[in-house]
Amino acid sequence: MKVQLLVSEWCASCHQAERVWREVAEERAIDFAVVDMGQPEGKALVSELRLKTIPALVIDRELKAVGVQTKSEALALVGDAPTRQASAVRHVGLGMERSSRIAVLASMGYLFLAGAALPVYGGFFADGPARVAPLHVLTLGFLVFLIYGLAEHMLPRFTGNPIRLGPWPWVQQGLSHLGLWLFFAGFWWQLHAVLVTGALLAWSGLALFAFRIWPVLWPTLWPGGREGGPGELKGIGVQTEPPRS
Ligand code: HEM
Repeated sequence: MKVQLLVSEWCASCHQAERVWREVAEERAIDFAVVDMGQPEGKALVSELRLKTIPALVIDRELKAVGVQTKSEALALVGDAPTRQASAVRHVGLGMERSSRIAVLASMGYLFLAGAALPVYGGFFADGPARVAPLHVLTLGFLVFLIYGLAEHMLPRFTGNPIRLGPWPWVQQGLSHLGLWLFFAGFWWQLHAVLVTGALLAWSGLALFAFRIWPVLWPTLWPGGREGGPGELKGIGVQTEPPRS
């Protein structure tokens, strides 16, 4: 059962509807997606079903309800769907996942640390570990964590495809934090084994990120060859009626 909740950034009740439907999607085995009417798939739905109100609930390409449902109303609408087996693969919605927020916050923390360290230890042009260690707080810390947080939130919405959430982002971020600090310490105190361990852990964090993002960009790579993607935009606005013969 394909359940799409059509929403928009500017619609206050859409956030409420999204919360209700997320809970339902965690309990029932439905293919649930929050579709922004500003994105191509949303525009196609609005056009195809001639929707005038949001939030709108579309089940298997049919408009089933508008407005915010209570949880029991929502469960009744997907009455036939079986109970969901636990899975970490989920669509993201309007609100940022906690893991994305934490990644962006961590990136700001690293920016602050790198900014403070660079002038103190000689900036980008200093010699020795004073250059490479703080530099990687900026690159592996600030840049990479900002990309983690924003990519995890935005790419699934741009493509309309789900992403591995649950423990995945936490393991990825944990590896990256630990890797960065060991890499930093290894460089700073010239401890070769610590540096290599840090480098390997940081690299594993990046690899895990790539592993999560790859099927968001190429959904047919999901196990089982899942079809997905934003679909084909067939038209926007009001189409004229076919000429009568
Ligand atoms: C797993 C991740 C990474 C590892 C293990 C790593 C490791 C290294 C190492 C060993 C060096 C050579 C340091 C030396 O001169 O002795 C280096 C230099 C450098 N790295 Fe990384 N790096 C990583 C990620 C990144 C990222 C994501 C960026 C940028 C976005 C970056 C930017 C740089 C730059 C600009 C230098 C040149 C520093 C200099 O010599 O002034 N690195 N990195």
